[in-house]
Amino acid sequence: MKPSRSNRPVVGIVGLGYMGLASGLGFAAHGYTVLGYDVKIEVRDSVRRGNAPYSEPGLQELLRRERSRERFRVVDSPEELVRAAEGIFLCVPTPSGRGGRIDLRPLLRCVAEVGEALRLAHGYRVVVVKSTVVPGTTEGVVAPALYRHSGRGRLELGVASNPEFLAEGSMVEDALRPDRVVVGASDVKTERWLRRLYQPFDAPIFGLTPAGAELVKYSSNAFLALKVSFANEISRLSDRLGANVDDVMEAVGRDPRIGLRFLHAGPGFGGSCFDKDLRALSSRARQLGIRLRSAEAALEINDDQLAYVLKLLRSVVGPLGGRRIALLGLSFKAGTDDTRESRALPIARYLVAEGATVRGHDPVALGNFRAAWRRMPHSGRGHLDLCRTVEEALTRADAAVVQVDWPVYLDWKRSWTERMARPLLVDLRRALRPSAARRAGLTVVGMGAGRLPGTTGGRVTS
Ligand code: UGA
Repeated sequence: MKPSRSNRPVVGIVGLGYMGLASGLGFAAHGYTVLGYDVKIEVRDSVRRGNAPYSEPGLQELLRRERSRERFRVVDSPEELVRAAEGIFLCVPTPSGRGGRIDLRPLLRCVAEVGEALRLAHGYRVVVVKSTVVPGTTEGVVAPALYRHSGRGRLELGVASNPEFLAEGSMVEDALRPDRVVVGASDVKTERWLRRLYQPFDAPIFGLTPAGAELVKYSSNAFLALKVSFANEISRLSDRLGANVDDVMEAVGRDPRIGLRFLHAGPGFGGSCFDKDLRALSSRARQLGIRLRSAEAALEINDDQLAYVLKLLRSVVGPLGGRRIALLGLSFKAGTDDTRESRALPIARYLVAEGATVRGHDPVALGNFRAAWRRMPHSGRGHLDLCRTVEEALTRADAAVVQVDWPVYLDWKRSWTERMARPLLVDLRRALRPSAARRAGLTVVGMGAGRLPGTTGGRVTS
């Protein structure tokens, strides 16, 4: 392996999940030598062979490139990683525990391993918490555990929080060109070390306390989730008023104080972050005697949105028992194979419980969905089949539901409609253009498009 460019520290990544792998490759692309370690041997083997274990645009190509440049290498133990890496980034999951509180066990196991490994290493080291942890964790929990396990003091070991803002579907881009870098270091030397490390990224760097940096991460996600929930709430009102939520939100978002992004109404937010982070933040705030009403409202609206979607399906399709429904898009959003907290799961569960046959399709997430469905309790007279092609999913369907706006569904073919028993589509993302639907002979009901039967068309009636 090529040595790091002169004076450039070697970077170590512990945890090669979506975020760890993309972050590590980001450092490699900016010229650092990066070592990666994951407790799961199958993940190590896959990454070592140059196969990204996740479907994420550009990830595979970047991995192959940085491997061949010998900038990114997988190691088999924390000891090996810590021996060579001066900066050690902890990128392990922090799932939801009881009552929405954060479960720190995977992180603490990793901290113990890295701490013990640090006993054997020589020279200054910086351990950086990239995992999302509730404010106060880096200083109050991680740093003391690291000092204890490593036997090191502050002079030999810097500790910092450095949250990431990578969104699935654009992780590579976000890792290569972050719009900001947030650093919460335990001391000035550590902050300086991190500022220097991030210099090649050419992004504004914000130095805060560790708790401040951790709070930036949660506040960002809470605010984004609130924007989505706001748009979702307006989508329900739009349906009643005969307005199109996209037209409304575009005109609203053109105000630069509001901004256009994250105002796209849909079936409710999913993914591994928003729900978990909002619960963790509200729960931590409650412990501190503060009610975070905005985060709680975002979560409640998200639950209401799911209930609305199910009601919409029932009212548009009619009684669901014995019906055949194509569920198009199983991931939590387009551009990823991740099905964590995907709305496709409760939608499929509901349809199956009502006695429908669900024909699920997704361009990349079939495997993850199958595994998640097996883990999920479900019962009812209906059942779920997963289909490799859109055609298969649509054959003899009484209705189709677009849950994710994957590009493949936007180019709807007339032959697809012809396979269906009824040419009816419920579009939860309003992805299909009316002209494309007309050409394909398809009747589309867009959630939030304001064209539901029985709406007032915006007129005030007495
Ligand atoms: C989110 C944040 O966007 C990232 O900045 C953050 O780093 C990441 O969480 C994290 O904490 O690790 P992600 O969960 O990958 O990223 O996905 P988002 O693009 O934020 O989407 C979340 C959910 O909101 C999806 O279900 C998406 O469909 C939904 N959404 C998003 C909408 O329904 N409408 C929108 O306008 C935007």
